[in-house]
Amino acid sequence: MVPKAELHCHIEGAASPALVMAQAKKYGVDVSSFIRDNAYHWNDFTSFLKAYDRAAELFRTPEDYALLTENYLREIARDGAIYAEFFTSPDHAERVGLSPESYTEALAEGMRRAKSETGIESRMVVTGVRHVGAEAVVKAANFAANCGHPLVTGFGMAGDERMGAASDFARAFDIAREAGLGLTVHAGEFGGPESVRSALDTFAPTRIGHGVRAIEDDALVQRIAEEGIVLEVCPISNIVLGVYDRIENHPLPALKEAGCRVTVSSDDPPHFHTSLSNEYDVAKEHFGFDDGELLALTRTSVEAAFVDEATRTRLL
Ligand code: ADE
Ligand code: ZN
Repeated sequence: MVPKAELHCHIEGAASPALVMAQAKKYGVDVSSFIRDNAYHWNDFTSFLKAYDRAAELFRTPEDYALLTENYLREIARDGAIYAEFFTSPDHAERVGLSPESYTEALAEGMRRAKSETGIESRMVVTGVRHVGAEAVVKAANFAANCGHPLVTGFGMAGDERMGAASDFARAFDIAREAGLGLTVHAGEFGGPESVRSALDTFAPTRIGHGVRAIEDDALVQRIAEEGIVLEVCPISNIVLGVYDRIENHPLPALKEAGCRVTVSSDDPPHFHTSLSNEYDVAKEHFGFDDGELLALTRTSVEAAFVDEATRTRLL
């Protein structure tokens, strides 16, 4: 089995329908508007984000979050993952009355349990949600910068990239950069090349979440290749959310061919009926990657991971 690594998964989006239904039963909440027949139901990006928020609302205690994290990491480790970085959202925790500190410590507890069971190494990337607004994103950055948690090693921004200008969020990324955190930002998913370009110009991240729509601009593709920016590509997410109509039209092979550093990740796996190992399978079956090329995806992820050099060397 090829060793795998994940750089782009939202922890709240990794909750399986079965786990969310168990949580719903525990808290007496009706989830039939977005979960039926053991599957999530939504029909566009907006309703996906709503289902995501509704599912997140059912994780309310530190133990709920520890269990979610342990389950996610244990499952991908079983499929050959040696490393995972996932996005955390203090915003979502705060909505259920959990402080950012206890939320983060609960996730860390799940990480420790998974590591002791499987050996999987993992880190957290605190994210702000762009469409919630700049103030909330700055708040998330301040938390990430000041929490001092050894497993919080990055800062990012998710949500609807079409909301607000990049400059609105510059301060948040400045705060995170000054604290020495790794930086990544969602761009080039629902926004075009100009969104990727302004993210690079404004935030100077080493990685871009998705970034696939850079393919629409040759000069931008060349810049990404030359600057060694790593793209956290989530092929099945892009198909299910309608960024591309079919996998044969997905630009990952063309981006790789143009010299961009690409990786594969699952984004919000049960929402998109995928998993990290399925993303590797897709690279093999639809993009024609051989084992050497699959291993190169993992190596690129580890090279771009927000970890200390001793951990990186051990993983490589
Ligand atoms: N939050 C969770 N999944 C996301 C995605 N695919 N794009 C933007 N924000 C997200
Ligand atoms: Zn994402």
